[in-house]
Amino acid sequence: MRLLLVEDNQNQREILSGFLAKNGFNVISAEDGEEGIRLFQENLVDIVITDFRMPRKNGLEVLRAVRRINPLAAVIIITAFSDVNDAVSVIKEGAMDYILKPVNLQELLTKIKTIRSQMEIQKESSALLYKIPELGISATFVGKSKKIMDILSIVERVAANSATVLISGESGTGKEMIAEIIHQLSPRRQHKLVIVSCAALPDTLLESELFGHLKGSFTGAVSDRKGRFEEADGGTIFLDEIGDISPLIQVKLLRVVQNMTFEQVGSSKPKTVNVRIIAATNKNLEDEIAKGSFREDLYYRLNVVPIHLPPLRERKDDIPLLIDHFLEELNMKDSISFSPEALLKMVSCHWPGNIRQLQNTVTRLVTLARNDLITIENLDDAFPGLEESEESGDRSLAGREKEHIKKVLDSCGDNQLKAAKILGIHRNTLARKIKEFNL
Ligand SMILES: Nc1ncnc2c1ncn2[C@@H]1O[C@H](COP(=O)(O)OP(=O)(O)OP(=O)(O)O)[C@@H](O)[C@H]1O
Ligand SMILES: [Mg+2]
Repeated sequence: MRLLLVEDNQNQREILSGFLAKNGFNVISAEDGEEGIRLFQENLVDIVITDFRMPRKNGLEVLRAVRRINPLAAVIIITAFSDVNDAVSVIKEGAMDYILKPVNLQELLTKIKTIRSQMEIQKESSALLYKIPELGISATFVGKSKKIMDILSIVERVAANSATVLISGESGTGKEMIAEIIHQLSPRRQHKLVIVSCAALPDTLLESELFGHLKGSFTGAVSDRKGRFEEADGGTIFLDEIGDISPLIQVKLLRVVQNMTFEQVGSSKPKTVNVRIIAATNKNLEDEIAKGSFREDLYYRLNVVPIHLPPLRERKDDIPLLIDHFLEELNMKDSISFSPEALLKMVSCHWPGNIRQLQNTVTRLVTLARNDLITIENLDDAFPGLEESEESGDRSLAGREKEHIKKVLDSCGDNQLKAAKILGIHRNTLARKIKEFNL
């Protein structure tokens, strides 16, 4: 949890920030409203504590800026008794709370803790997490499963710095969306997010795409051209499908990842840039390394912060939320709904194409719908092949045996004696199997 303290009185600022730091908060401070707004823009801040009367932008202006930049952040206003009327109007503008001068430190701490626990509850219960206003509803990252929550907490932490991120996950799981969110939450958002699909281009073209080229360096190079790394200077580059790049490009990338230097094709003059790299792949790069098709050194350089997006079938609780979200995106949330059976079927499907497939399915169903209810028949009509997921993948005898033993154990509360009886085996045999299967 990061706090931003905006207070023009130096003495007061030091007392407050010292106290908050001592209580375990990560505090940054600003000495006037303008600096406060700048720091808020550059850092991911959860709670802003701001004085009301300040030179160069007062507390109200800070509040308005915060509401505009990140409505999820909370603001506490510190105010003198004589300004208490202003404090009330400030609450109306969306401040979470206010505190009177002279500030009682314990009271401030209690207020911050209350806000913190409210934020945590809200995070757990709210499905719609990141609405990035500039990007509109399409950037709302939906999900409330534990796996998604864990990912979002990594995303929040990593956004603040420039560490290289490697996103893995099957097709359609939201890799590009995560890259976009990291960029938008990072101080680099004023600069570009450049997206390069590495699989789409043959080797020589990819090299010139990434690093640029000089006029005449190859047939067709009729003029100098800047590469995508240069275009992303100050911002972020998203290297999609990184598992598909050739050994030659891997070597060149390794150098960029190490020291941000490269040469344009046909030039020997090194260029240096400042770019955050986010790479993504739907391959398992460790397998690719074993096969000898991906460099291990490059992998370690890219895999500084790994983010794995689980397939949709491993986070089925998110499916109803996503359906709702896509209905809303289509402006149909109030006019169309799914029957309970249809919804259940949607949840039990395998979704090999993950969220993208789910999204296309919802769009298609809505387009074909004849009335305001989507039924299971509509599903079957529209998608005769829409398959429910198979029972767990392991079809070997040992796999089934393990599963069966586990089920029985669960059903009798892990009482081995009972379980052995139900299974019809000796309890020593059961004990051995439990060990063998690591149950
Ligand atoms: N958590 C989510 N909430 C809402 N929409 C999502 C979410 N994840 C993905 N989407 C949507 O699903 C679609 C696919 O997402 P995205 O393009 O980011 O996936 P990807 O992993 O990059 O896929 P691919 O490997 O095919 O390139 C997009 O339209 C995106 O907006
Ligand atoms: Mg993608």
